[in-house]
Formats: sequence, structure tokens, C-alpha cells
Amino acid sequence: MDAIRIRGGRPLRGRVPVSGAKNAALPILCATLLSDGESLLRNVPALRDIETTAALLRFLGRDVEVGDGTVLVKQATVAPRPEAPYELVKQMRASVLVLGPLLSRFGRAKVSLPGGCAIGARPIDQHLKGLQAMGATIELERGYVIARVPDDGRLRGTEFCFDLVTVTGTENLMMAATLARGRTTLVNCAREPEVEELARVLNKMGARIQGAGSSEIRIEGRDELQPFDHAIIADRIEAATFMIAAAATGGDVLVDHAPAEQLEAFMSKLVHAGCDVTREGTGVRVARHGKLQAVDITTAPYPGFPTDIQAQFMVLMCLAEGRSAITETIFENRFMHVSELARMGADIDVRGHTCIVHGVPHLTGASVMATDLRASASLVIAGLVATEFDTEIRRVYHLDRGYERIEHKLAGIGADIERIRGAAA
Ligand code: EPU
Repeated sequence: MDAIRIRGGRPLRGRVPVSGAKNAALPILCATLLSDGESLLRNVPALRDIETTAALLRFLGRDVEVGDGTVLVKQATVAPRPEAPYELVKQMRASVLVLGPLLSRFGRAKVSLPGGCAIGARPIDQHLKGLQAMGATIELERGYVIARVPDDGRLRGTEFCFDLVTVTGTENLMMAATLARGRTTLVNCAREPEVEELARVLNKMGARIQGAGSSEIRIEGRDELQPFDHAIIADRIEAATFMIAAAATGGDVLVDHAPAEQLEAFMSKLVHAGCDVTREGTGVRVARHGKLQAVDITTAPYPGFPTDIQAQFMVLMCLAEGRSAITETIFENRFMHVSELARMGADIDVRGHTCIVHGVPHLTGASVMATDLRASASLVIAGLVATEFDTEIRRVYHLDRGYERIEHKLAGIGADIERIRGAAA
């Protein structure tokens, strides 16, 4: 298993590029199941989750070529197999995104239940309720969801209101509705940019979707869809991670292609924490000269402060003057980085869904363990500011799920960072 070693204490300076958005690419790859023919996706990040999705699509009977920043999905000569096995789904929860497309396209689907994960139980009840509202019968058998369309062979349009805001739930139902009979109205939808991006692609395929990006989405079902050619939007979470790294190290970095308009809640907190944040050309420049100030944050669905930036922002608050309250409202177990940060000298009290972070003058390098994707990113940032000893982050396969060549990108802006291949677990 690989590890990452960082010798911290150097301010980051220069320009760093942002890759295509993982959480936009995954549903769009699943949307290729909705049509025949060749679909081409560009600006795709080289990540483990993309490889897992490619493997899943191959298992489902597609021919998939992963190139340099591209994924080409072709119809294979073998008959399609609408079945997503546990071995693939357990590696990546987003695999559940094949359920809606498989069901509406092939009339049936067998998809393994994803099970819990490190950050929470993460049920998919809303995905299933929505499909049932569209006429699907759903059975749960030996850990699998077995879904079938009604006897007339198609899902039917309906009005469905989500009990809570779910990103992949909205995406799954939106994809299912594109081939349903009649009109579907989805209410209380996730408004994330990745949902809007998926709707953009589905509309390119010939779907009729209105309202994506708002809480009500209307979809007029079509008889068939066409393949597409599309370049993915930039990754707002990766961009934010680099901005925090620049701020934490007291550096000055231009984050190229950072989608500023999607990061307003986060950028305003960065400014309140004492950073200079300016839009410059196609990116955002973040610099810090003075001391960091404590600010409180509460995660919320878009356009609120993203849960996917909570762990990284916490590192910044570990170094701020004063006391900050960080409240997580999306996932019930997303504070696993706290005990690792404590090993580096952070002073954090966990009180239920809130962490009270007392700023300390500095963090100290240590051996730490990555537990999930964003927790790993927070440990990298902590390693970049830590002094006295090197930081060694183990189990970086979590990091490789969502950050493309992170050590190369950080080294490019002055970090002393290296990957150690085959380190102890
Ligand atoms: N939930 C339910 N029932 C459902 C669906 C969700 O109770 O049927 C709950 C979840 O357990 C959670 C909350 O609703 O407490 C929100 O979950 P959501 O469904 O929105 O999360 P997701 O769609 O599984 C996506 C991203 C996550 C990101 C969340 C929240 C993808 C592939 N994943 O997950 O990204 O944290 O939305 O914004 O888009 C990451 O990239 O590190 C990551 C975890």
C-alpha cells in the first residue's frame, strides 16, 4: 500500500490546475447506459473511482476505453447484463447510480445494496421510493435490489417529493425519468452543480429536463436517447482543497479553473478567516499574510458550505486564533480526521455533530492514517503546515479515489512531498 510523506512548513506558491469533477463524471458515465452507440467524455480525472466505474460498465456489457483525460464508452457485442455485483458496488457507493439507467433502459436491474461506509450509514431508501413511485416493483434479496418496470414495459412519469436532499438520489431518478412514459416532477431535489451538469448531458442526449440546479426538476420522458460528446466541469472540491492548502501554509496560489461561482459559501468563510481571495482570469487566487481568525461553519446542501470541504477547513481552524465551531449536518460520522489531527497537536473537542476547535500555534508532523477521501485531504494539508517531524500518511488509496496526481500538483507549487510505493499499511 502506498503512503505519502510530507516535509511541512513551506508556503505554497505558484499556479495549480484543477481537474475534471469526479462527482460529475461518475453519474455521467452511468448515463451512457441510457443509449446505444459511442459516447465520449473529456476532461475526465485519472482516479480510482473512474477505473471502478469503467469496470462496472464493462461488467454491464459495455466496451470502455479509458484514455488520457478521456473515456470512450461503446456498445459491446455481448448482450447487456443489467446486474451490478457486490464486489464492484462495495468499492464505490456511487455504483448505485446505474440503478435508474438500467431499469428504465432494460426494464429490470439487479444492483447490490452498497452497505454503510466510513462516513455514515448512507441508505438509498429515497432512490427506491422514487422508483416505486414511477411504478417499479422493488424486492430486496440477499443484499441485492431487484427492480422491475410495470407490465407495460416502462416506468411512468410521476410527481415525487424527496424526504431529504440527496445528490445521487436526485441523479438516479432524473436518469430513470428520461426514458419513462410521460412527465416526472421531482421536488426537494439536490441543487448541486453536478446535478445540473448531468442534466446538461442528458439534454444533449435528447432528454427534456428543466429546472436542474433548482429544487424542482421536470422531465418529459422520451422513447430513446442518443450518445454524446462532453467535457466535464472543473472539480469544485479539489479547487477548494488547494485554496485551503494555500491559506494554511501562508502561501499565495492561483488555483486555475477554480469554479468560483460554485464556491461562494466556502470562499466567504475563507475571507472571514483572514485570507485574500480574488478572482483572477480563469481561476481564483488565495493568499494569506496575516494570522488566521476562527470562524464557525455548518455544512449544508448546495449552495451551503459543502460537507466535502469540512475536514480540510478544520485544519485551517486548528491554526486560527480563537475558537471555532464546525457543525456537520449531512453525514453522521464525518469527524474521523479529528483523532488523527489530534496526533499532530490539534486541540479539538467533539460534541455530537459539532467540533469545537481551539486554535494552536503550530501542528507537528506524525504518522497518520487516512480513513476516507476528504479526511485524507485534510491530513495532507495538515502535513503541509506541520513542522518538527515529517508527516507520513498511510492508506492513501482513499486519496487516490478523488484527487488526481495530488503529490505532483502540490510539488509543482513548492510542497516537499513524495509517494512511497508499497509502504506498510
Ligand atoms: N440519505 C438517505 N437516504 C437516501 C439517500 C441519502 O437517508 O436515499 C442521506 C445520507 O445518508 C446522507 C444524506 O442523505 O446523510 C445526504 O446524502 P447524499 O445522498 O446527498 O450523498 P451521496 O449522493 O451519496 C454525494 C457525493 C458525496 C457528497 C454528498 C453530499 C457523489 C458520487 N458523492 O453523495 O461525495 O459528500 O453527495 O454532498 O456525488 C466525496 O466526494 O468525498 C463524497 C462523499
